[in-house]
Amino acid sequence: MRPKVTVIGAGNVGATVAQLTAEKELADVVLVDIIEGLPQGKALDLLEAGPVEGYDCRLTGSNGYDATAGSALVVITAGIARKPGMTRDDLLHTNAKIVGAVTDEVARRSPDAILVVVSNPLDAMTQLAWKRSGFPAHRVLGMAGVLDAARFRTFIAQELNVSVESTFAFVLGGHGDTMVPLPRYSTVAGIPITELLPPDRVEALVKRTRDGGAEIVALLKTGSAYYAPGASVVEMVEAILKDKKKILPCCVHLTGQYGITDLFVGVPVKLGRRGVEEILEIRLTPEEAGALKRSSEGVRELVQKLGLL
Ligand code: NAI
Ligand code: 2OP
Repeated sequence: MRPKVTVIGAGNVGATVAQLTAEKELADVVLVDIIEGLPQGKALDLLEAGPVEGYDCRLTGSNGYDATAGSALVVITAGIARKPGMTRDDLLHTNAKIVGAVTDEVARRSPDAILVVVSNPLDAMTQLAWKRSGFPAHRVLGMAGVLDAARFRTFIAQELNVSVESTFAFVLGGHGDTMVPLPRYSTVAGIPITELLPPDRVEALVKRTRDGGAEIVALLKTGSAYYAPGASVVEMVEAILKDKKKILPCCVHLTGQYGITDLFVGVPVKLGRRGVEEILEIRLTPEEAGALKRSSEGVRELVQKLGLL
């Protein structure tokens, strides 16, 4: 039997996650949204693409939660997205209400699921989902680092005129303006970009990565990115469902690693069928460690605003 993946929020990111999950035949997919007809329509449309694309899984849409029961994995994308001029943090209280309520519904029906949170502000929403679900921390994580690293890799590949496939990047910290791209650990064919580019070019790529979400918002004007976010979520879904033990930067619960306690922040982890199977502590320079600490303090402020600490 195929596992079931529930995607809450059938908007831009949610529908992209459903599409890629189906195209890779990773699971049967249940799409849930509050807008009547939207999840049903998108699920049916995706189902009807199956004969052409050659995938064979069940896709259903619903405005309720009964069909989500027994999910192996739940992706939470419900909420509002950024408009030009808004920061991710502007979404805090609106999305907290939505993510809190959604988590209650899914946790009750799928008590053994792994939750992958996408809604912004990402780190605070992941901490909220963890608290509300009562799930062990290894089964609650947030998607941001994979996306931010994908953006960094894209810019590195463009700058050096090499295939994105030859690039690797790590971006740690909170998913916001204080995120911490790590040039020393970002490579082309294993060679750190600090050895391939002058410092001012490295800094320009780091800055563009930090501003990557806002760059798309400014172009789209009516919402935020969804193709790369959807692909990033599905890389995590695949790593978990196929028990790949893949090392990816994800937002996870820290209990002293990197000197950060009781907070969900982006760090490298090993993803497998049990969820977060290991948190990797890579060696950081004092400057990098300081930037990660500062980024985590920004996350802590938001979490405190929600009364979670
Ligand atoms: P969207 O507006 O296209 O879709 C959101 C969907 O959530 C809508 O269809 C809406 O009806 C639905 N929704 C709202 N309240 C709901 C509820 N109570 N129950 C079920 N569904 C509900 O937005 P998009 O572009 O899909 O973004 C979704 C969220 O993901 C936003 O908060 C956005 O900021 C965030 N995001 C995070 C990224 C990350 O790297 N972590 C990347 C991209 C987006
Ligand atoms: C992004 O980075 C909006 O968080 C979203 O594109």
